[in-house]
Amino acid sequence: MKVLFRLLFYWKFIYLLCTLNSGNMELVKTITELQQKLAGSAGKGAVGFVPTMGALHEGHLSLVKQAANETGIVVVSIFVNPTQFNDKNDFSRYPRDIESDMEILEGTGCNFVFAPDEKEIYPQPDTRKFNFGNLETVMEGIHRPGHFNGVAQVVSRLFEIVQPDKAYFGLKDFQQLAIIKAMARQLNLKTEIVACPIIREPDGLAKSSRNMLLSGEERENAVTISKTLFEVANNKGEKSVQEIKNIVTNSINKNPFLRVEYFEIVDDQTLQPISDWGGQGGKIGCIAVFCGKIRLIDNIVFN
Ligand code: PAJ
Repeated sequence: MKVLFRLLFYWKFIYLLCTLNSGNMELVKTITELQQKLAGSAGKGAVGFVPTMGALHEGHLSLVKQAANETGIVVVSIFVNPTQFNDKNDFSRYPRDIESDMEILEGTGCNFVFAPDEKEIYPQPDTRKFNFGNLETVMEGIHRPGHFNGVAQVVSRLFEIVQPDKAYFGLKDFQQLAIIKAMARQLNLKTEIVACPIIREPDGLAKSSRNMLLSGEERENAVTISKTLFEVANNKGEKSVQEIKNIVTNSINKNPFLRVEYFEIVDDQTLQPISDWGGQGGKIGCIAVFCGKIRLIDNIVFN
C-alpha cells in the first residue's frame, strides 16, 4: 500500500517532467485552428517559422532548433507542395510519414506542426506568376522549369497564414534561399529570412529527404559528390574557374552511379556564373547530380 502511495506521489512529477520535455507540441491541420492557437500564444514572443515538406532529418531539425533559440513560438509546416514539382514521379515518390515526423520533432522546441491538406493551401488553383529575373534563369531554374514559381507560391501562402517574424531556410538549397529573399523584398514582407548552415552526414553527404530513396550501393557512391567538392575547394591553388569545373564534372561522372546535371561556380548574390576568381563578391559552387533516379543537390563556398 505504502509503495502504491509513493508511486502515485511521484507519478505527478514524472507526468510534469514528460509534458515539459515534449514542450506540448500540437498537430494542427487547418488555417482557422492554427490562427486561433497563434492568437492564444500572443505575448510569448516572436513567431519563428520553418517550412518543410516532411521526411524530416537533422538538417530540418537544425532549423527548428535555431528558431527555438531565437523566437518564442515555433511553427513547423509539413506540406509536400505539388506546384513546385515539375516531375510527377518525383512528387509521387517523395517520402511522406507524418507520425515519424512528429516523433522526430519532439523535444526540439517546435510548438505547432502545421500539416494542411492541399485544399487548405490552394482552395483555388494558384495562377500567380512571379518574376525573379536572372536569379531563376540559371541552375535549378533551367533544369526544373516552374519549380521556383511553385516554391514562391507556397512560401508566400504559408507566410500569409503564419505571419512569422522570422523564417528559417537552409543554405543547402542556396538558390531557393536567394529566391525567397527576393520574394520577401518584392512582396514587402516584414518577415526576416534567416539562412542556416548545411548539415551533413558523418561522411560528408549533405542530409536530404531524398537520401532515404537511395539503395545501399547508391548511398555509398553518393559521398563522391561532397568529397569532390571539399577536395577542389581546399586545393584550388592557381587553377582557373574552368579547370575546377572540369575537374568536378569529370571526377563525379567517372563514378558509374553518378551523372552530373550541372556544376556552376556563381556569384553568391547575383547567382550569375563567374569566369574568373576576381572581384570582391563571395563565390559558390552549386551542383546537381543524378544518383540512379534520385536527384541530389549540394554546394560549396570558394574562398
Ligand atoms: P525541404 O526540402 O523539406 O526543406 C525544408 C528546409 O530544410 C529548407 O529550407 C532546406 O534548405 C532545409 N534543409 C534541407 N536539408 C538541409 C540540410 N542538409 N542542412 C540544412 N538545411 C537543410 O525546401 C523545401 O522543403 C521546400 O522547397 C519548401 C521551402 C518547404 C517549400 O515547399
